[in-house]
Amino acid sequence: MNVDDVLSAAKAAVHGAGDEASLEQVRVRYLGRKGEVTALLKGLSKLTPEERPQAGAAINAAKSRLTALIAERKDQIAAEQLATALAEEAVDVTLPGRRPGSGGLHPVSQTLARVEDIFTGAGYDVFAGLEVEDDYHNFEALNIPPYHPARSMHDTFYFDDGTLLRTHTSPAQVHVMERQPPPIRVICPGRVYRRESDLSHTPMFHQIEGLVIDRNISFAHLKGTVTEFTRQFFERDLELRFRPSYFPFTEPSAEVDVQCVHCMGRGCRVCSHTGWLEIMGCGLVHPNALQMSGIDPEAWSGFAFGMGGDRLTMLLHEVNDCRLFFENDLRFLEQFR
Ligand code: PHE
Repeated sequence: MNVDDVLSAAKAAVHGAGDEASLEQVRVRYLGRKGEVTALLKGLSKLTPEERPQAGAAINAAKSRLTALIAERKDQIAAEQLATALAEEAVDVTLPGRRPGSGGLHPVSQTLARVEDIFTGAGYDVFAGLEVEDDYHNFEALNIPPYHPARSMHDTFYFDDGTLLRTHTSPAQVHVMERQPPPIRVICPGRVYRRESDLSHTPMFHQIEGLVIDRNISFAHLKGTVTEFTRQFFERDLELRFRPSYFPFTEPSAEVDVQCVHCMGRGCRVCSHTGWLEIMGCGLVHPNALQMSGIDPEAWSGFAFGMGGDRLTMLLHEVNDCRLFFENDLRFLEQFR
């Protein structure tokens, strides 16, 4: 093979090399110890002494030309690589930043806050009470002695030391009456616990207790308060129904139903085709309950109510399964942000 052919083949190979590794292969192939140019040099010995100087000069010229080309190509490859790296890793400083997503209050927390707002606007105080209670405050001081059948309605979680998870927010009433002389106007929102779990019950749920004690408080005050509250809470005029009921710590007692918000009272699956949904228990505070907490039932009277925080949230947002509130599925919760 002659020098010119080898050189032009080598040139083409140098141009074709796309990265340093393949360029090195080209170098070895032509200039290496067993390379093609080296072979040409070795072939000089077969020439006559007259031919040798000219042929040798031509091969050496080709060798240095090729060396220079390889060096050039090497710089080129490095420059190309730098350029692509810069282009790929470029930071677009004009892109808007990624903002952290903002959270929101849980729908039930929003309800409790909404109820607090309505009542504090009417001059009520807020007292959270305790979630771990003793038997006295959860039952006895509420006129529920140990043998009382009402205890079986509560399905209580007990601890070994005799304390328990409160089954309703009513013990908060007792704490307030023990601490503060009348007149009293307070609401006590918070978590309560019962050993039950099915479609419409979760072992932890929320209640909002209300307590008013003053001179000459009557059932009319209770009825007016509940009526005004529901009007403000649902932001519309819904029919209310007071059904006679029984609680050991109130007398008389009632349960309050609101016209079904789903069907407006016509009857649907949510209200079991009755047209009504229960939202609270209430009544006039039983004289025994006043007396036990140090309030003279001859001088003072009062009313109390306890409503379901989760229930109110379901009705407000027309959610039909209370367990959705406790599954912490963001797709559900984000709708209330
Ligand atoms: N504590 C009662 C319950 O959990 C509700 C209630 C509260 C009833 C206050 C009357 C007065 O069922």
